[in-house]
Amino acid sequence: MIKVEKLKINYKTLEEFKKFKEYGIQELSMHEDLQANIIENDSQSPFYGIYFGETLVARMSLYQRHAQFDQYFNPPQTYLELWKLEVLPLYQGKGYGKTLVEFAKNFNMPIKTNSRIKSKEFWEHMGFESVSYDMERDLGENPLVWYPNGVTVQ
Ligand code: COA
Repeated sequence: MIKVEKLKINYKTLEEFKKFKEYGIQELSMHEDLQANIIENDSQSPFYGIYFGETLVARMSLYQRHAQFDQYFNPPQTYLELWKLEVLPLYQGKGYGKTLVEFAKNFNMPIKTNSRIKSKEFWEHMGFESVSYDMERDLGENPLVWYPNGVTVQ
């Protein structure tokens, strides 16, 4: 059984994050906030992950975007932004990516993600669809969306 856990912001999690390719400003600012005591050790993070033994092997970040900002779904509603889905190379192809995506779908809210070029086929395999590109809205991203029952394109 693969278990998805909500990740806490602490030095151990941030150390684990260094193994992921998409390690950037978001992780660095969490680190700075922790050092400056702006956030407490073990604060909630927007990240969910899967451990294999003691090792964090897969993660994603999920943010709720309020309905007032929804430019993708009909009817307009609060939806999830899924970022930074990544499985460490040695653990790819074992169902961890799919488990995280299924976990996100279980909130039963529409989901928007932004595909890195090589992973577009993975997203399509997971039931996501590309939206027609809108320059002002999408700003160079390649959004892919997932619609729960009763939700359609805006
Ligand atoms: N393209 C198309 N289908 C893919 C795929 C890809 N790149 N990666 C996985 N799949 C399919 C699997 O065959 C599997 O199909 P099945 O359910 O019918 O058996 C399903 O998606 C689930 O695969 P899973 O084992 O959960 O994938 P994963 O744990 O390796 O996670 C990524 C997928 C893309 C998130 C992960 O491989 C990753 O982080 N990769 C690194 C970055 C990247 O974007 N790589 C793209 C490939 S070069």
